[in-house]
Amino acid sequence: MARHFLKDDDLTAAEQEAVIELAIELKKSPYLKRPFEGPKTVAVIFDKTSTRTRVSFAVGISDLGGAPLIMDSQNSQLGAKESVADTARVLDRQVAQIIWRTYAQSGLEEMAANSKVPVINALSDEYHPCQLLADLMTIREHKGQLKGLKLAYVGDGNNMANSYIIAGALAGLHVSIASPKGYEPDPIVLNRGKELALQSGGSVTFGNSPSEAVADADVIATDTWVSMGMEAEKEKRIKDFAGFTIDADLLALAKADAIVLHCLPAYREFEISAEVLDGKQAVIWDQAENRLHAQKALMVFLAESDN
Ligand code: CP
Ligand code: NVA
Repeated sequence: MARHFLKDDDLTAAEQEAVIELAIELKKSPYLKRPFEGPKTVAVIFDKTSTRTRVSFAVGISDLGGAPLIMDSQNSQLGAKESVADTARVLDRQVAQIIWRTYAQSGLEEMAANSKVPVINALSDEYHPCQLLADLMTIREHKGQLKGLKLAYVGDGNNMANSYIIAGALAGLHVSIASPKGYEPDPIVLNRGKELALQSGGSVTFGNSPSEAVADADVIATDTWVSMGMEAEKEKRIKDFAGFTIDADLLALAKADAIVLHCLPAYREFEISAEVLDGKQAVIWDQAENRLHAQKALMVFLAESDN
């Protein structure tokens, strides 16, 4: 049975730490691990648009000795013409791993249930776990540790919020979320985060006040107010999220040496001011680069678990 990475807690806390450690090592020695030497082919499928995920997986698979096969659902039979299960049964006989950016988490679960090779979630409506491996690695690099730090996420209770809750709790962070009323993260995810935090010594709190969430934070994170697939709600969301912009006044409430994360793409003057996004405390370009190293470490981990 192959191991899959569909959500943040598909890795244990120890495995998450090991993947981040390996990512830091691979950043120094990019060709240290070659699990796809041959080359073996790895499929990367997109149902939604992407820059960072597309590039970092393509480069990462090549660095690991493999050949990336980048597919778009619009140009394949997946979806309208052929089921997820049948697609998995075709792909797993020819590729070493399947990486998929899609809508419903249930699609990824169906792919994994029918695949003999590892399946990786490259973003779903519910989670963005590869992003969190990069984010945790970036925090480790800038702060030297994860356990005990306060991470404030201000914004939509979306896939990024869910992944901050689960991955952050697993890593022992104190995760503090602030979302407007009506945009809260899923209560099941909040409860799962609290359960994981009990074991790690971290915590998960939720409220509707950005200033309370960011008070004394070591790390501040946000994400777009209009995720892919929600474009029709754009005007309403911009109104509902008033007061939730990460700007210099809000940043001043965090610790003086706080770092700012954004998974990108960013919409300046909406979820974050240009001053903060382009300012000294933002570490977003390291964060974007770390997608490459973190995902390489994940693919190595899954390839080794698959042997
Ligand atoms: N952060 C992120 O996943 O970016 P892309 O949508 O460009 O892949
Ligand atoms: N929440 C955003 C993340 C983009 C990387 C989305 O799903 O569109």
